[in-house]
Amino acid sequence: MTVPAHSVVPAPVEVIPAPGVAFALRPDAVIEAPTAFLGSYLADVLRPPTGFALPVVTAGAGPGDIALVLADVAGLPDDGYELEATADRVTIRSRTETGLFHGVQTLRQLLPSTVEARTVHAGPWTVPGGRIRDYPRYGYRGAMLDVARHFFGVEVVKRFVDQISRYKLNVLHLHLSDDQGWRLAVDAWPRLAEVGGATQAGGGPGGHYTKAQYAELVAYAAARHVTLVPELDMPGHVNAALTAYPELTCDGAAPPPYTGVDVGFSTLCVGKDVTYAFVRQVLAEVAALTPGPYLHIGGDEAHSTPAADYREFLRRVQPLVTATGKTVLGWHQIGPADPVPGRTVQYWGRTPEPDEDARAAIANGDRLLLSPANRVYLDMKYDPQTPIGLDWAGHITVRTAYDWDPATLLPGTPDVIGVEAPLWTETVATPADIDLLTFPRLPAVAELAWSPQSRRDWTEFRSRLAAHGPRWTLQGIGFHPDPEIPWT
Ligand code: ACM
Repeated sequence: MTVPAHSVVPAPVEVIPAPGVAFALRPDAVIEAPTAFLGSYLADVLRPPTGFALPVVTAGAGPGDIALVLADVAGLPDDGYELEATADRVTIRSRTETGLFHGVQTLRQLLPSTVEARTVHAGPWTVPGGRIRDYPRYGYRGAMLDVARHFFGVEVVKRFVDQISRYKLNVLHLHLSDDQGWRLAVDAWPRLAEVGGATQAGGGPGGHYTKAQYAELVAYAAARHVTLVPELDMPGHVNAALTAYPELTCDGAAPPPYTGVDVGFSTLCVGKDVTYAFVRQVLAEVAALTPGPYLHIGGDEAHSTPAADYREFLRRVQPLVTATGKTVLGWHQIGPADPVPGRTVQYWGRTPEPDEDARAAIANGDRLLLSPANRVYLDMKYDPQTPIGLDWAGHITVRTAYDWDPATLLPGTPDVIGVEAPLWTETVATPADIDLLTFPRLPAVAELAWSPQSRRDWTEFRSRLAAHGPRWTLQGIGFHPDPEIPWT
């Protein structure tokens, strides 16, 4: 049995089927790939379920083989690819390794779902014949994992990278600090991780990444064409930092560690010079670990920072970001603060009308990243029965997450660079919790960010998505069986 081409999520830009034609992988097939990583990535997917040897070669693919080819494909942007399946072979072409990686994800979904098994299964390992031409709608296709409320170690984050990259997302935003914990070692301020990292929501042991571990995550993600965006939230959401360095508070007294889930009670002291030495040194060290373009400085829910202080803080801090060579990213509350060039604002509103802060960002001409809380906050419950999650932005079914258009969410013609689905972890403590809230909504958001609006249709998406349930089961992902999806 073959999976129809139309089960691919996110929907490709163009699919031209070749009726009656199918490719079948032969037991003696080879994988031709231009880099060792791409070849071994695909071989690692295909060898366990097929039991085939699938040697990786750099040239000479023939009948029955798979070829990944770096080539200039007319009319395709850099991260696009073309996948051609004939009776003879499967060829994926792209100008870039990123495009080839995207094509590999599509190939994986064109094979029978048992390709996701890690034990040998019966073939045939067929791919429906035809040609796919595909490229993304938006350059920023993101997910966020809050490792501050609950800490998740390197292996859990790598697994999340694996999951999001299968759906062609290319950004992982890590929320690295909050009232409940500080998660990244900083040499100039060692107590941030040692003291500020030793707590989490609910009172567990917390934890933090050493610089070596963080660099390992950056490299692991980069190999999968995912860029890390580190967030150090300020001037609010800083209780963990203040427990470690009381000189950052206005009264100099260390607050107790915080393991609850309230927000808005902590602030850096805007009037003290040490605050800016702290921010400058932290940002410099994080920038040095970050090949990607963005440093996220939070800026949300600074309810304990007087409005004038908040603007003054950002007036001084945004240039500290740009001085590192990075671009400022912040939650849309930074909208009223003086913009700096290239600034990008992450919209997390939940009403049809943007609030004053978002309107200020749009009026500034800030670039916008869309994370409307009532659509793509993965920490919201699906329905009242969902065992974990919050509901302040409503219940978010798969349809609610899927059925909107980023181009028309906000009035006017804002400069939208993409979509990001945040997973806040106040109620999320285990990898199984991550899976339950992420699947199936993350693939729905991935299609929003990748596929042209003209290719997106809820009714058709439902049946495509249904074919992914068995794949998730084989991958060990415990997903929410949303009743609107006709699971097979
Ligand atoms: C947020 O949800 N506080 C950005």
